[in-house]
Amino acid sequence: MPDTELIEIFDPQKDFLRVERAAALLRDGKTVIIPTETVYGLAADACNPDAVKRIFEAKGRPQDNPLIVHVSDFDQIAELVTVLPDQARLLAEHFWPGPLTMILPKSEKIPLVTSGGLDTVAVRLPENAVARAIIRAAGTPLAAPSANRSGSPSPTTVQHCIDDMWGRVDAIVASNSCTVGVESTVISLCGAQPVLLRPGRVTLEQLREVVGTVQLDRGVTERLSENSKVLSPGMKYKHYSPRADVVLLNGNIEQYAEYLMKHCENGEYAVCFKEDIPYLAVPFLSYGAAENHLEQAACIFDVLRSLDKLGVSRAYVHAPHPDGVGLAVYNRLIRAAGFEVINLGQEEP
Ligand code: TXA
Ligand code: MG
Repeated sequence: MPDTELIEIFDPQKDFLRVERAAALLRDGKTVIIPTETVYGLAADACNPDAVKRIFEAKGRPQDNPLIVHVSDFDQIAELVTVLPDQARLLAEHFWPGPLTMILPKSEKIPLVTSGGLDTVAVRLPENAVARAIIRAAGTPLAAPSANRSGSPSPTTVQHCIDDMWGRVDAIVASNSCTVGVESTVISLCGAQPVLLRPGRVTLEQLREVVGTVQLDRGVTERLSENSKVLSPGMKYKHYSPRADVVLLNGNIEQYAEYLMKHCENGEYAVCFKEDIPYLAVPFLSYGAAENHLEQAACIFDVLRSLDKLGVSRAYVHAPHPDGVGLAVYNRLIRAAGFEVINLGQEEP
């Protein structure tokens, strides 16, 4: 088991010796947790199959779930893919560096272990300055899934990374810079039309403004049957789940408060909007204002992890509107809830 080292980098300009330390480990085939603007990523050299295998081992991740490859400069993706469609260039112009991942046909440079055996590769140019400095110093693209144990909520603070990964990775880079809070938007550009596979801070509406038609994959909001063919292997797996049982409730404040009054028992919590608080007579954690999807995204994983710290047995979550960045928050919550959703006002008597 690795002896984890904590490397603090707050300003990549000033802390360049520490940037170099993280990069040296990565060049040496080691695993290093790095911050990105979305969530912390568990990085290794994307072109080194042995290094990439260590990511799967540390996370306990199924081998067929492919990794995102992170670059520091747009030109770096040319050798990772076999075609670079105009749509990819357009999207890069608008949203890179930033929280958007594009799926493209992969070149030989990407080992199959990185792509989970697929002939495509997910590429992303992050906005986070620490992430970019480390990728650049490493001199190689970095494969980096979210740095959580497989199945649990993604880490947005260094404490989350320590809780999940201490002793499983070679180093953790601390930096308070996961501001988005949910993982990048994933769009596939491999079919006849672009398909949104995972919503994030770059919204479906914004993508459509740039490339026109973008399909929304069914798996974003619905449970897929065991044997249905999925475009993104990550969709098959249980995700973002705290140990607490999560139930997602669609409805207005009054309906939500009334439901809790009837159903919330000892040891159970509400996960609510700020506006709900005056109406509730049960323990709660708030995850932001109802209309402020950015605020919800920034704290939702921390709130899900807090449920377990508090020993909560069940959490009743007031569902966000699934539009804009709200679709990303809704998508994470519906998975945390194992697709257990109650539409208030329409329940069985
Ligand atoms: O914001 C993010 O994207 C973070 C940070 C660290 O960059 N990374 C991240 O990686 O969320 P991960 O591995 O937790 O999620 C990647 C998702 C998975 O659902 C995976 O199945 C999907 O992207 N994916 C990766 N490569 C793919 C491919 N070639 N085709 C389809 N889906 C792919
Ligand atoms: Mg993940």
